[in-house]
Amino acid sequence: MKLKRASAICGTPTLPGDKSISHRAALVAAIAEGETRIQNFSASADCTSTLNCLRDLGVQIRVEGSEVAVMGVGRSGLRCSTGPLDCGNSGTTIRLLAGILAGQDFESTLTGDDSLRSRPMERISMPLTQMGASVISTDGHAPLKIQGRKPLNPIEFRLPVASAQIKSAVLLAGINADGETTVIESAPTRDHTERMLELFGIEVRSEEREGKRISVSGGQPVSPGDMKIPADISAGSFFMVAAACLPESDITLRNLGINPTRSAIIDVLKNLGVVIEILNTATECNELIATVRICGGLQVAGGNAPALISGDLIPNLIDEIPILAVLGTQLANGLEVRDATELRHKESDRISSIGKNLELMGAEVTEFSDGFCVKLSRLRGTRLDSYGDHRIAMAFAVAGLLAEGETEIVGADCAEVSFPGFFEILRGVVR
Ligand code: S3P
Repeated sequence: MKLKRASAICGTPTLPGDKSISHRAALVAAIAEGETRIQNFSASADCTSTLNCLRDLGVQIRVEGSEVAVMGVGRSGLRCSTGPLDCGNSGTTIRLLAGILAGQDFESTLTGDDSLRSRPMERISMPLTQMGASVISTDGHAPLKIQGRKPLNPIEFRLPVASAQIKSAVLLAGINADGETTVIESAPTRDHTERMLELFGIEVRSEEREGKRISVSGGQPVSPGDMKIPADISAGSFFMVAAACLPESDITLRNLGINPTRSAIIDVLKNLGVVIEILNTATECNELIATVRICGGLQVAGGNAPALISGDLIPNLIDEIPILAVLGTQLANGLEVRDATELRHKESDRISSIGKNLELMGAEVTEFSDGFCVKLSRLRGTRLDSYGDHRIAMAFAVAGLLAEGETEIVGADCAEVSFPGFFEILRGVVR
């Protein structure tokens, strides 16, 4: 994929349905008692992996355009798959599905592509084993062999790292436990699972006591219902940052999910002087949505310290860090990201992928074990690798719009993992 310098981006790009929310909608619908129709379901390869795994577990699913109908089989109705369940590139599929399968009385094998098989899985095998399932990994990685147990033991579990996927695996297992399961998080992570469970009629309790304690009692009925998935803020972030960096830009994102556990990107941009209007705020799918308009122009911050993103902010914008790194090259004092070691365990080692690509484009960047620092830099187009990582491919496509000369991204097709049609949609708004 080749990109050239742009002067602005303008228009109303259509974003896919939120990937995180789509996974959860399909997974919970599968164990509901009856049919759920989901509008604006993400057509991403990751969410398709979730649908295919559910089909392999005996769930009937119809896809008609962007609407998906899931015939729920109830909490105990899943059937043993005849072969391994292929989660593709999707960490959310493998970890959340593992939580559901831990509570079924059959054995399942979960696997995925090379990237997924290199990502850490002991973070979910540990709590699910405590709950009474047998989870055998391959040196802490997929393939995972799960022998479920019915009912599971309820547990109280403090998250070892701020991860919504671990929290969700334990909560989804908790709905098949014999009592109340509690997950304690010290830093807030995206709360889509809690909201989705509520949408299906499951009571989720939440309390602040030495961290946030989220509890669910096992055995509650899962009631189906129709819903519409909000547009994906992580997909929107590429347009937000491109608009912010190209001064004549004017971009509107409709029905955008602005859940407070996901929307720190908006606050970061506002703090950098970007004009962002939030209009038509409403609730859809138990999630906050709005129309978000972004006009071009960053403002030079006072002082000479780089903008800093660290601490509890990190889980809120973990998936936006590749595109924020590109933004950092346009900031007078640069950008420093810290406390983000988790980036090393994503679809690629994102600290390394960001560092290598920025350096190739001529940026001054320093890598740390838990982040990086990038200075104001004049980017030049060159040949870059996506490292098979969708967010790296899309972030550096935006870098290509800011760079002198031509930028080529090798392996850009992987953008389909979260955002089918990204490059055509980007081309449609470039001026
Ligand atoms: C996700 C949680 C995050 C995020 C991922 C999607 C989710 O991962 O990076 O893209 O849908 O729960 P972690 O839970 O590993 O932080």
